[in-house]
Amino acid sequence: MEVAELLRGLAVMVGPFPRFDVEGAPERPGELFVQWLAQAVREDVVEPHVVTLSTADERGRPSSRVLMLRDVDAERAGWVFASSALSRKGVELSRNPWAAMTMYWTEQGRQVRVSGRVEAADPETGRRAFLQRPEPARLAGLIGRQSAPMADLAQFDAADREARELLRGHPEAVPPDFTVYTLWADEVEFWQGDPERRHIRLRYERVDEGAADGWRKELLWP
Ligand SMILES: Cc1cc2nc3c(=O)[nH]c(=O)nc-3n(C[C@H](O)[C@H](O)[C@H](O)COP(=O)(O)O)c2cc1C
Repeated sequence: MEVAELLRGLAVMVGPFPRFDVEGAPERPGELFVQWLAQAVREDVVEPHVVTLSTADERGRPSSRVLMLRDVDAERAGWVFASSALSRKGVELSRNPWAAMTMYWTEQGRQVRVSGRVEAADPETGRRAFLQRPEPARLAGLIGRQSAPMADLAQFDAADREARELLRGHPEAVPPDFTVYTLWADEVEFWQGDPERRHIRLRYERVDEGAADGWRKELLWP
C-alpha cells in the first residue's frame, strides 16, 4: 500500500461550512470562541471540547496531547483544563508556563489556535473541581501516576483496586496532584476553512494599554 497515494485519496474540507462574519466579530476573542463553541454544539460537531494542548520543556522541545476543555473565561480570555501536576505536561508547565491549545472542528472546517501562559489554580479550586466529577473520572484520578512508566497491566489493576477501596472508605478523597489550569491567551486565531480555498484567518493579539487589557484584531493571509 502506497501511503502517499492513500493520503491523496482522502477528502478534506468538503463543506458546506458556516459563514464567518469577520466584520461582526466581537472585540474579545473569548467571546468569539464561546459563539463558535455554542454553534459547534448546536450543529452536533463531534466532541468540540476535545482539544490539543502543546507544552514545551525547558529546552524548548514541544509535546502535544489531547484533553478536555473544562471552561472558558470569555471576558479575560482564559481556557481551562485539568490534569495531574506530576504528568509530563504538568512537569513541563511548572518549568515553562508557555503553551498552546488547538481545536479543529471537522464538520465546520474551523480551527482555533490559542497561545499564552498557563497558571495553576489554588488547591481548593482543584479540590472542588475534582469532587464535582463523576465517579469513574475520580477513580482515574485516584489511580494516579499519570505519565510514569508502568511495568505491566497487572500493576494498573492493583492500583485500580486500591483506588476503588480508597473511594469506598473516603468518597471525598482528592489526589494531591490534581490541578486545574488556565491558559491565559495573549494570541488567539480563528480559522474558517472554505471548500474553494478562500479560507479566512482572524488573529487577536493582546495589547496592554495601561491597566486595561485590550485586543488588536487583524486578518492573516491563508
Ligand atoms: C478524548 C480524550 C480526553 C482526554 N482528557 C484528558 C484530560 O482532561 N486531562 C488529562 O490529563 N488527560 C486527558 N487525556 C489523556 C491525555 O491525552 C494524555 O494521555 C495524558 O494527559 C498524559 O499526557 P502527558 O504525558 O503529555 O502529560 C485525554 C485523552 C483523550 C483521548
